[in-house]
Amino acid sequence: MSFRIQPAAPARPNRCQLFGPGSRPAIFEKMAASAADVINLDLEDSVAPSDKDSARANIIQAIGDVDWGTKTLSVRINGLDTPYWYKDVVDLLEQAPERLDQIMIPKVGCAADIYAVDALVSAIEAAKGRTKRIAFEVIIESAAGIAHVEEIAAASSRLEALSLGAADFAASMGMATTGIGGTQENYYMIREGEKHWSDPWHWAQAAIVAACRTHGVLPVDGPFGDFSDDEGYRAQALRSATLGMVGKWAIHPKQIALANEVFTPSEDAVTEAREILAAMETAKANGEGATVYKGRLVDIASIKQAEVIVKQSEMIAG
Ligand code: COA
Ligand code: MG
Repeated sequence: MSFRIQPAAPARPNRCQLFGPGSRPAIFEKMAASAADVINLDLEDSVAPSDKDSARANIIQAIGDVDWGTKTLSVRINGLDTPYWYKDVVDLLEQAPERLDQIMIPKVGCAADIYAVDALVSAIEAAKGRTKRIAFEVIIESAAGIAHVEEIAAASSRLEALSLGAADFAASMGMATTGIGGTQENYYMIREGEKHWSDPWHWAQAAIVAACRTHGVLPVDGPFGDFSDDEGYRAQALRSATLGMVGKWAIHPKQIALANEVFTPSEDAVTEAREILAAMETAKANGEGATVYKGRLVDIASIKQAEVIVKQSEMIAG
């Protein structure tokens, strides 16, 4: 371990982030009643320009009126390249009740983007005497965002989570696809005449996880557009979980159960992790740093791996 200890990420359940357009208030109660850990009410790309003002008003109203339970309640503001974002921040912070937990900033390209929003939020919080400090989540969904991902992850003590936005990311990178996440038909290798599909999102995901883990931020996988493809969603989510991400977006309610299933450590995984910890306790008592569990090596690193699973399961259980 480096002299600098890796900071812990916020201990909040973040298995599924459910999105819904701010221009569709009829679904807000359904979102609140869902099994998603995080609710992202959207002012950005699911809202038409002509609806921005009314969507903002709908959301401010609903933050107070709807019972959001214990969910993390987040609003996605418009990007800093639009004429809308400052009003999103000002109206939300001046008018929305303290139930609001978080602002999500899309298309972040550098740490200064977060600095700008932080300065505005901090000034309004002080002016209005808001007692709850608003958290930030950002979306990495551009070439600049991924190129500067580490400075972005370090940009503000408000930052709690960082998501990969596959569609805008693909567009910004000039990737030849219109799919939102998942397997890409043309991303394959040939071996002995057979096609083997590879994962075009792997590099961006791993870069996001590394930046997040370095700075104590939750890494999250973004949208999977084809909501009729449960197996495709599950495969994408399983890869994300394997790489260290803690959750995934749902852009339709049927994706919530899939995310919760993948990002809740299974009973078998937790049992095995506890058995590894017990085996290592015995090893330590015998003065050994390594031992054998089910025919394979476990050592001091295995303790840390097992603890990740046990801690995640305990945190989700509350
Ligand atoms: N959250 C909660 N409930 C939702 C929902 C959502 N995001 N989207 C749809 N529902 C509800 C519908 O109201 C409907 O409820 P009902 O059974 O009581 O009538 C039910 O779920 C089934 O909806 P369905 O008819 O399959 O979908 P739709 O055509 O109404 O909407 C989308 C499909 C994709 C347009 C919609 O899910 C949506 O807007 N998703 C979020 C998009 C978004 O926020 N994008 C930005 C992030 S990428
Ligand atoms: Mg986007």
